[in-house]
Amino acid sequence: MAADRDAFRAPVGTHDVLPPESERWIELVERFASRARRSGFGLVITPIFEHVDVFRRLGDATDVVRKEMYEFDDKGGRRLALRPEGTAPVVRAFVQHRPPVPWKVWYLAPNFRYERPQRGRYRQHWQVGAEVLGPPDPDIDVEVVALAQGFYRDLGLKRVRLSLNSMGDASSRARYVDVLRGYWRDNASVLGDETERAEANPLRILDSKRDDWQEMLEHAPQLGEYLSDESRSHFERVEEGLQALGIDYEIEPRLVRGFDYYTSTVFEFASDALDAAQNAVGGGGRYDKLAEELGGPPTPGIGFGIGIERVLIACDGEGVLPAASVACDVFVVDLVGTTDALQIMQEARELGLAADRTYGGRAMKKQLAAAEKSGAHYAVILGANELARGTVGVKDLRTEEQVEVRRADVAPWLKKQIGDTTR
Ligand code: HAM
Repeated sequence: MAADRDAFRAPVGTHDVLPPESERWIELVERFASRARRSGFGLVITPIFEHVDVFRRLGDATDVVRKEMYEFDDKGGRRLALRPEGTAPVVRAFVQHRPPVPWKVWYLAPNFRYERPQRGRYRQHWQVGAEVLGPPDPDIDVEVVALAQGFYRDLGLKRVRLSLNSMGDASSRARYVDVLRGYWRDNASVLGDETERAEANPLRILDSKRDDWQEMLEHAPQLGEYLSDESRSHFERVEEGLQALGIDYEIEPRLVRGFDYYTSTVFEFASDALDAAQNAVGGGGRYDKLAEELGGPPTPGIGFGIGIERVLIACDGEGVLPAASVACDVFVVDLVGTTDALQIMQEARELGLAADRTYGGRAMKKQLAAAEKSGAHYAVILGANELARGTVGVKDLRTEEQVEVRRADVAPWLKKQIGDTTR
């Protein structure tokens, strides 16, 4: 029987990332890591799967938990789930290890959600993100937002907008949710078969993009009117900090974000270079009760996640962070078939240079064409006559000048010409 064609393709909603596209990933992660380090964050690595209960805290009424989790039983009968998002595992790790606070960590990780795949929405997507566990100081909110905003700037993105809102504390939100439930009941005819969802999770309706709901949503009561004094002054201090750092933002009263763990400050970054339905290139907020809910000491937290694939689509849209091919300094053109080609490449690489060659004894013309294409600065040409004299030819591919260099000295000679590279 013929093999199933799809059995040997990446599963629907997942992607292979090949060179040279993958070079952009390295560049993106390096820029994020560099900014995170400068901001006092260390890398945290948590497992790709967790006990499913870790993720139940995201909210039983959220699609991610209800419909989209990749859950399975392992051979020992444990109920596990592939990570659908990065915050719950980090807080679980915090509760488990109890590091000193403030605990500032960043991560790079794949996430899994059984969504309907489309451009910018995948079943496996990658995030870079950051979390801070520690005091509820609003200055931390500002630093966290500044980290994300600075990263977009580092990439050269200009069309990223920041929206901000406060979800208030538990008591402000409880009051608001009551009012909102009443409002949804009054609008049952507009909500149609979504009235049940509105009853179960009134906040989730607020940020819907359904056209036929927009008028109802515009007149919905706003959370900002129900904030406690404490929540309000926290939010004011966040605004003051953002303004002091010159970070532009818009207050978006209907921004509530998708998970139940959010409290207080929430924010989202949207790119005008993306389709409106998938324009969020990052988002986050405070989750001041999550550590407790995962069995830890009461420890407020705040963080964000940034979708790598979406950021790269936004970069394409704005024409920044182009895919660079893998760099090459030295290309060895081998006309003799001795082990010298192998050795010279190794010697060059040991000195920190990038070296490459062709294989299979190809004609000189073809090898030189490959050398040109590689972007190498120098071609080292191994000919029988030169090797018999104890030398090799070295051609500067930019000036076309060729010199003879002692075979034994060629790698340090190249290193001296090229100087220190960052490879
Ligand atoms: P999120 O908003 O679900 O938040 O995801 C963060 C970002 O990941 C989104 O803004 C988007 O760029 C990207 N993203 C999400 N789902 C997909 C998908 N299916 N395909 C492609 N990209 C996607 C969180 O995950 C929270 N853990 C963020 C956070 C951290 N909150 C506090 N700390």
